[in-house]
Amino acid sequence: MQIVAERLCEAVDLRAGSRVLDVAAGNGNTTLAAARRWCDVTSTDKNPAVFETSRKRAEAECLKIKFVEADAEKLPFPDQSYDVVLSAFGVMMGERVIRELLAIKNEWIPLIYLLRLAAFILIMIAIVDKNRRA
Ligand SMILES: C[S@@+](CC[C@H](N)C(=O)[O-])C[C@H]1O[C@@H](n2cnc3c(N)ncnc32)[C@H](O)[C@@H]1O
Repeated sequence: MQIVAERLCEAVDLRAGSRVLDVAAGNGNTTLAAARRWCDVTSTDKNPAVFETSRKRAEAECLKIKFVEADAEKLPFPDQSYDVVLSAFGVMMGERVIRELLAIKNEWIPLIYLLRLAAFILIMIAIVDKNRRA
């Protein structure tokens, strides 16, 4: 999971100071990867219990992160309030979720990131499957 988070942040070429929203953040791999790149990160999940782990991880690395309980299908943020919206293995491409992500960023770029990630996951599955057969 951590390596995917790092790869995702590299793929989107995060810049220091960018406002980043991590949707369905879970225990915070993507949140932390973005915060390590000096981004201003808001970490969201519909289950606030998961924040406990990422909060501890962030404290250990002296990273400042904002945690907000939020359902990906109804994000409580104004349109265009983030520079980058990320989600790794969080919400699996429901149409309503994609609409929400596009509204927050208001461009097609987040969708491209999600598709890239989906392609990366498919390639990993193919490699694992190939190794299992060998
Ligand atoms: C596999 S974990 C996420 C992994 C994480 N993104 C990472 O980078 O390591 C899946 C998370 O998605 C959250 N989730 C699932 N559906 C959601 C939704 N509709 N809105 C917000 N969070 C959701 C779950 O609570 C869970 O914490």
